[in-house]
Amino acid sequence: MKINFNEPFISGLEKEFILDVFEQNRFYGNGKYTQLSTNLIKNRISSENVLLTDSCTSALEIVALLLRDYKKEQEIILPSYTFSSTASAFARAGFKLVFAEINPHTMMLDPNDIEKRITEKTVAVVTVHYAGYCCELEKISLICKKHEIKLVEDAAQAFDSYLKGKALGTFGDFGCFSFHETKNIHAGLSGALTIQDPAYVDRATYIWERGTNRQEVLKGLVDKYSWVEIGGSFYPTEFQAAFLYAQLLSLDENVAKRKAIYDVYHTNLSLLKEEKILDFPSFENYFKSNFHAFFIRLNSEEECDKVRECLVRNNISAYIGYVPLHSSKVGLKMGYTKESLPITEYNAKCVLRLPFHNNLTIEDVHFMTLIIKESLGFLA
Ligand SMILES: Cc1ncc(COP(=O)(O)O)c(C=O)c1O
Repeated sequence: MKINFNEPFISGLEKEFILDVFEQNRFYGNGKYTQLSTNLIKNRISSENVLLTDSCTSALEIVALLLRDYKKEQEIILPSYTFSSTASAFARAGFKLVFAEINPHTMMLDPNDIEKRITEKTVAVVTVHYAGYCCELEKISLICKKHEIKLVEDAAQAFDSYLKGKALGTFGDFGCFSFHETKNIHAGLSGALTIQDPAYVDRATYIWERGTNRQEVLKGLVDKYSWVEIGGSFYPTEFQAAFLYAQLLSLDENVAKRKAIYDVYHTNLSLLKEEKILDFPSFENYFKSNFHAFFIRLNSEEECDKVRECLVRNNISAYIGYVPLHSSKVGLKMGYTKESLPITEYNAKCVLRLPFHNNLTIEDVHFMTLIIKESLGFLA
């Protein structure tokens, strides 16, 4: 029996809603199911301004277009330990990317390093919430307020996680979620953008709607729509929105199952953490996770390879985490070197992401943790 790294979640209601899209005879998007999904998201995370997008990448691209002033040289600060979209969205809008170091315990942005990299050109910090954990949000928010720069939360992996009761993705000026099929809930591809400052809502909506003020025509405010922003085609079809609606309705059941899986990983590997054979962050009691993933950080690349190979030999797919962006092909072209961010460079090679999806059984998790212990000589 093979244990897959990820299996897309299916709630069972998807087909019914997809068929209803045919009944509606409205396919292209921004229709009934876009409204239903958007309203559910708004209520769930208590956010007034939400735009459903066709991906988290698109949500990030809308933010980049909103913040870009083409007359100025502008910089954003972001982790190198992230997915390419966090960087690409801003680079292609013309921002200079300034990569900052991470805290190796959490693999998320180190607030002290952010502060060192702020210049008069810095426009925003883009922070990533990794693997169902929360970055040092309160410290990072304070830094952004002090320097009067925007905070963008790349919450691709963090939909339905809450810090002190407030949803991740609603702390910063903008929050970007992913509903890619590798996420807890999904629509194949989809995402969402939250906008905390109402002053940005109209422009964001124009950008979302191919740079036009078509929404105002639909509301009867103007007769003809025209080109008012540099935009894109950023919203999902009604098929995606209908699929997502089915998944959103099953969110509680989805998270409860993931918590049960997480708890077994956590309990079974705690002793290895205490012995400092490996590391993983734990949750503070004021944080409610969506239990997106479980990762371990070994003490060296060699140890990490050893555990991964042992899992693979047992038909278990485990993967390394993000490959750092600063030392990627594009990062090197931008002038970064491996040495630019030594903490990120070293620790990224030590991270192993373990299988995590709703079809895993508790026995699967016990088996995997047994293999991990064996591979590290812990059962000898
Ligand atoms: C941190 C982060 N940002 C952005 C994305 C891109 O999300 P999407 O595939 O929805 O565009 C991902 C994808 O996993 C991600 O991990």
